[in-house]
Amino acid sequence: MTDSQTAGDDRDAAGAADPALEAITQEWLRQAVGEAAATASLTTSVAPSTIERFTPTERVYHWVQAIPYLVCLLTGGGMLLWADGLHAEAREAAAAVHRWAGGALLVGVAIVVAFGRRAELFENARIACTWRREDLLWLLVYPLEELGLDVHAPPTGKFNPGQKLNLLGQLLLIPVFGVSGVFMWLTHGALLAWYAHVAAFCVAAPLVSGHLYLALVHRTTRKGLPGAFGGRVPRDWATEHYPLWVKEQDAEERRQAVERRVHQAVREHFEHEHEHEAPA
Ligand code: HEM
Repeated sequence: MTDSQTAGDDRDAAGAADPALEAITQEWLRQAVGEAAATASLTTSVAPSTIERFTPTERVYHWVQAIPYLVCLLTGGGMLLWADGLHAEAREAAAAVHRWAGGALLVGVAIVVAFGRRAELFENARIACTWRREDLLWLLVYPLEELGLDVHAPPTGKFNPGQKLNLLGQLLLIPVFGVSGVFMWLTHGALLAWYAHVAAFCVAAPLVSGHLYLALVHRTTRKGLPGAFGGRVPRDWATEHYPLWVKEQDAEERRQAVERRVHQAVREHFEHEHEHEAPA
């Protein structure tokens, strides 16, 4: 009979664990965890040169929203431009593409939310809704830093406050576009819906333009673009732009490494015990 079986029997008989055995187990576990933590910190000291910034669900959500959104932005702008009555055909063609792109946007987002890893999307929404005093300071200082002044914006987490504003904006704009758009689609002369839709366009156009400029053109921020495709970005770049987030990721990685090492130690311990269990 093994020690663990004896311990089990003791526990059953007394209704509680044998204190001596409990102490030995605790000591053994403490040593295993200590060892594991040491190994883990050694493992993570040779960090890979890239870090995963966006998961597959986050990336699919991004593109399912971004592509039809851009089509809506362009065709919507075209419709406003051609509302003079002189370009009726072009306007009608833009309106037809616009309705289907709008429909695809709503259906695509609903599918990703229904079947993707919702928790990851909700976590990003939670981050966008969580504001600290440092975020307000960041909004004040970052533009000055960009202008070359010798000031430093506070370190940020996964999203900087500018990105949080963009995310919050889109979270509010999509329902407004969706409800007013479907209403206009199904009825005629829905003036209130039209006003809401065009007002949302006036907010969306500068937000999307700013987002595209930072993602594609700006010298320092465009280095994050690979994150939207393959998910990974250069670690140095991420540490510079999102230091608190990189710290969180590293701590989580170390925690997982310790957990794996402890599981392995426990498995090895019981396998070893099993090998020494002499058949009667
Ligand atoms: C979310 C889904 C959307 C739906 C279902 C939708 C639907 C519609 C519909 C039915 C119209 C009227 C078309 C017509 O006159 O025949 C319209 C107009 C318009 N939409 Fe959208 N839309 C959506 C998203 C967007 C987005 C994302 C933008 C811009 C970022 C946008 C910008 C506009 C603009 C500017 C107009 C102009 C209207 C005009 O000149 O009368 N829409 N939309």
